[in-house]
Amino acid sequence: MLAVEGIQAGYGGSQVLFDVGFTVEAGEVVALLGRNGMGKTTTVRALTGLLPLQAGSVRMDGHELAGRPPFVRARAGLGLVPEGRQVFLTLSVTENLVATARGRGWTQARVFGLFPRLAERKRHQGSQLSGGEQQMLAIGRALMTNPRLLILDEATEGLAPLVRAEIWACLRDLKAEGQAILVIDKNLKALAALADHHVVIEKGRVAWTGTSDALAADPGTVERFLHV
Ligand SMILES: Nc1ncnc2c1ncn2[C@@H]1O[C@H](COP(=O)(O)OP(=O)(O)O)[C@@H](O)[C@H]1O
Ligand SMILES: [Mg+2]
Repeated sequence: MLAVEGIQAGYGGSQVLFDVGFTVEAGEVVALLGRNGMGKTTTVRALTGLLPLQAGSVRMDGHELAGRPPFVRARAGLGLVPEGRQVFLTLSVTENLVATARGRGWTQARVFGLFPRLAERKRHQGSQLSGGEQQMLAIGRALMTNPRLLILDEATEGLAPLVRAEIWACLRDLKAEGQAILVIDKNLKALAALADHHVVIEKGRVAWTGTSDALAADPGTVERFLHV
């Protein structure tokens, strides 16, 4: 479904991604791993069009998205839950969800079914929500675009353990419904349980790819690329 090949990107004069490539099939969960500063968020920005590509290709079902603006990539099915949540702070929960709604499938009611807490807060402004509620709203907002691929960048970062567990449970439910997901997170154990395969990024290049079983059987990779 998504095929990323040879992407290069950076900020100003400094190149961050040298050669990143991987694929995500329909219904699959892929984890993007790597230590801080290795280029995971930059990869996601390059995929979604928030950062221009210097080289490489991003294809959805064979259609080239490189060079296309973010809204075209969103329409092609890339739905991002960005690092730091970035919900609209001055809009209510309902307004946040309506703002991105597009296509069929996801409705406010369905998002509230997934996150009952948001239903209780639907008239509250984004700024009045807890960090966990903002994260749920960010996920709900991305789902309202009916993404073919839901992309989550550190969605459990800074949340209390119980709220994290709720987010992981939600991702499991979405996977069970056939939602394809690209997930960046620091919790290897939770990722190993959820992801079909893993892509490890080291200094802007793919250093390792494999299944959860292969990763578990390869403590050297974890030590080399993932331990701080
Ligand atoms: N807006 C930016 N301007 C300049 N350099 C940046 C910017 N964002 C990230 N970088 C640099 O790009 C590299 C990769 O960062 P990032 O993709 O955020 O890593 P990760 O998400 O894997 O922690 C880092 O060296 C970081 O300092
Ligand atoms: Mg990041």
